[in-house]
Amino acid sequence: TTILVLNGPNLGRLGSREPDVYGSANLDDLRELLVAAAPAGVTVDLRQTDDEAELIHWIYEAVDEGMPVILNPAAFTHYSYALRDAAALVTKAGLPLIEVHISNPHARETFRHTSVVSAVATGVIAGLGFDSYRLALDFVTRAPAGGTT
Ligand code: DQA
Repeated sequence: TTILVLNGPNLGRLGSREPDVYGSANLDDLRELLVAAAPAGVTVDLRQTDDEAELIHWIYEAVDEGMPVILNPAAFTHYSYALRDAAALVTKAGLPLIEVHISNPHARETFRHTSVVSAVATGVIAGLGFDSYRLALDFVTRAPAGGTT
């Protein structure tokens, strides 16, 4: 099984971007952590883009290939209906899509309190740093596709 771990805009700057909010580790560190945490036979495919279209196309790839998705939509979380519609295709296909955030958006600016993605996600994990991803990986690698128990 391959798990797609998709990261939206500005997350390529992790490590130097607002380290007080996001910590000092970067995406390569995150990839290393997830690869080490993945059970045998599970491949972690971690990607980042600042481009909404590219992110949407990767989500289509997940649907077409039957891959579970761990998605940090970054700022797209708060306003991208296009991303939300793409994300809905994943869960409609019976595949898990876990929305993750490094920070806790609810403890931050008001515009971050809204997620247009959450309603079509299998579940949401936020505020736990890189552990948000690790826990999502744990879930998708032991749950049957689309399962919530
Ligand atoms: C984020 C939270 C978003 O509000 C923000 O735009 C990000 C990162 C997080 O992981 O905490 O870019 O998704």
